[in-house]
Amino acid sequence: MAPATALVACSGDGGGTSTGRGAGYGSPVEEGRRLYFGRCTACHSPEPVRDYSPSEWKTIVPDMAAESNLTAAQTDALWAYIHAELAR
Ligand code: HEC
Repeated sequence: MAPATALVACSGDGGGTSTGRGAGYGSPVEEGRRLYFGRCTACHSPEPVRDYSPSEWKTIVPDMAAESNLTAAQTDALWAYIHAELAR
């Protein structure tokens, strides 16, 4: 399955935390970063990704993606961001 559906969920504030680490706008990592600091801060402040292990993220992401009503494509982007952070 390749859902080419709208990643057009730029709902407003955008955050403006562009630290420009090579990943350009429109990349999954950048999209994931926007989601992380946008959607994921509705209920709590963003915690550093590396505070949690990869295996912890495996349970956190599905749980919190559901809390945030992320689409499958958005969840993929979130994973791209989390993987990029864990790999730093
Ligand atoms: C609807 C509210 C809500 C949204 C939106 C939300 N969270 Fe959470 N989050 C919570 C609550 C409540 C907890 C603490 C209780 C729990 O672990 O379920 C939590 C806990 C966490 C934790 C700590 C987990 C642990 O095991 O200690 C992390 C990390 C986290 N959220 C990340 C995220 C990420 C990433 C997103 C975006 C995809 C997100 N959250 C979106 C409500 C939310």
